[in-house]
Amino acid sequence: MENIASEIKRLRDELNRHNYKYYVENAPEIGDREFDEMMKRLETLEHEHPEFDDPLSPTHRVGSDISKGFTQAAHIYPMLSLGNTYSIEEVDEWVKRTQTALSGQQATIVGEMKFDGTGISLIYENGRLVRAVTRGDGEKGDVVTENVMTIKSIPLVLSGDNWPESFEIRGEIVLPWKAFDRLNEERERNGEPLFANPRNAAAGTLKMLNPAIVASRGLDAYFYYLLGENLPFDNHYDNMMAARRWGFKVSDAMTVLHDISEVDRYINHWDTARKELPVATDGLVFKINSLRQQLNLGFTAKSPRWAIAYKFAAERALTRLKFVSFDVGRLGYITPVANLEPVLLSGTIVKRASLHNEDIIRSLDIHEDDMVYVEKGGEIIPKITGVDKAARRADAKPVEFVSHCPVCGTPLVRVDGEAAWVCPNHYGCAPQLIGRIEHFVARRMMNIDGIGDETAAALYAAGYARTPADLYDLTREQLLTLEGFGPRSAERVREGLEASKEVPFDRVLFALSIPYVGETTARKIARTVGSIDRLAEMSIIELMNLEDVGPRIAESIIGYFANEENRRNIERLRAAGVQFEMAAESEEGRTDMLGGKSFVISGVFSRYSRDEYKKLIEMNGGKNVSSISKKTDYVLAGDNMGPAKLEKARSLGIPIIDENEFLAMIGQ
Ligand code: IVH
Repeated sequence: MENIASEIKRLRDELNRHNYKYYVENAPEIGDREFDEMMKRLETLEHEHPEFDDPLSPTHRVGSDISKGFTQAAHIYPMLSLGNTYSIEEVDEWVKRTQTALSGQQATIVGEMKFDGTGISLIYENGRLVRAVTRGDGEKGDVVTENVMTIKSIPLVLSGDNWPESFEIRGEIVLPWKAFDRLNEERERNGEPLFANPRNAAAGTLKMLNPAIVASRGLDAYFYYLLGENLPFDNHYDNMMAARRWGFKVSDAMTVLHDISEVDRYINHWDTARKELPVATDGLVFKINSLRQQLNLGFTAKSPRWAIAYKFAAERALTRLKFVSFDVGRLGYITPVANLEPVLLSGTIVKRASLHNEDIIRSLDIHEDDMVYVEKGGEIIPKITGVDKAARRADAKPVEFVSHCPVCGTPLVRVDGEAAWVCPNHYGCAPQLIGRIEHFVARRMMNIDGIGDETAAALYAAGYARTPADLYDLTREQLLTLEGFGPRSAERVREGLEASKEVPFDRVLFALSIPYVGETTARKIARTVGSIDRLAEMSIIELMNLEDVGPRIAESIIGYFANEENRRNIERLRAAGVQFEMAAESEEGRTDMLGGKSFVISGVFSRYSRDEYKKLIEMNGGKNVSSISKKTDYVLAGDNMGPAKLEKARSLGIPIIDENEFLAMIGQ
């Protein structure tokens, strides 16, 4: 029999290797089930034999739920920035300049992406991650090791063996576009302020105090700089390729370029090709390849002479700020919005741009009537990136963030740990009340056909509905008084309300607008806890023991049930027939729509988790199989499905469907 220590080691090595295959190479060799089984076995062994615990074991990747502040650490080598250029000509000049400084020696150049995320420095000793530090002020930064450990593409323990005993590697932590869109969609549904771009989202996520939330956000990391005394090669490119073999994600776009014409071609290619990349980039970086030549060139006070950034041109327009308005969301968050003279930008007319929060207003130093630059950098919302101060009126006053709710006049309060202000008048402030009705009736929640955003506002204005519970008391006569309502639309509302009584408890819980309880959290809570009565009785500790529930969500739930108005609303909704318990798992919901067809699930999904899809397949009469063969009927593919699987499915001619197609198959 294998002894315990060596079994633990074998499992850790295997799991690390499969993590690498999955997250770095996108080419998993084993199925999830097998992976999960190995992980479970390792967890059990570690639990039974705490003497073999290792903080870097793959079992610790999930992130603990303990909040703490960050300590700071000094960088061994300062983290400098890069000189910027904005045209091919400027890059060419830099190439010539370095050539001259190197007394005409031939120099090869490495071209790479400039990832638009947040810089990170990782220290490895004896092949193990010992510390992760943010850029900070360049001299010292925050120690964020626990958060970084949740990023699955970062190796905790290195592969191969020719790594230096101690070294530093730098890279960029990024939030891929898909994860960014998903996060913002969820924040929008939850009434929380949106992130302006993936960079802010990545930086904000990395600094969160709860590693469990960090783990759920889908950060990734690309590496571009190896530092230390005993690097394996005398040039940057070969060192990065070595780092790739040790387990780091190094972009495929990294290339050796031999002369100016190759540099120019690289720029021309990536100027457009970068739009196809899964992560945000804001330019390219060119580096002299030879470390000896790098040493000869040295640094200025701020940046290396041996490297230069080329920034992609953002599509930008100049227009006048008319005024700044302040939107109040369903949960009371105040979002400043710049109202602009309409201007054409990348094919659409822009009239409004989010200013996101007070910090952004301050850093822009925006004044009334300013001429402002608007950009759309592949992001969903156009943003203001600067102001033309020369065009400013001498007596223009700075834009101030409001101190009171623009609608109800209540003094605003600052949210702990966020750059956001909130109107605390949750039960009296009109846009919050209307917002919660809109949220309640929306398609993903109670799906009450016949009541849209406009109707919700009209019902509130007429004094017919202040809370979702009021909707169930609406009379036909009341509805008929609303503008545009006739007997048919009134009947649709009545039918919609009736149908909503069948909506399962997990969606009801999400529909209630409990702050921080988003769609996924509501679903998980509802399915584990089972009923609203049980949830209302739970202590903060019990709540925090639930999967995905940290202190912030737990406190919010406690606060929600402590409020009498909320409790009264729930009772009224219950009396109207709304579901406050999960239906028994029995035969309810079971169908034979998939008629025994077999499915292989691969990749990452956004609407349900993988396990939930497995359950849905079984509930609807299908079969789950772990590997693709001739007998497989469908491959249900999410993001990041491994290329090997994809190829296999294609070669066998098995239909590959995405989650929407799958949900359509089962009538959702
Ligand atoms: S090299 C001493 N390479 O851009 C040179 N930086 O403006 C160190 N960045 O702080 C940086 N992609 O956070 C380098 N391929 C790349 C990069 C990159 C993104 C970031 C990095 C750095 C900033 C400089």
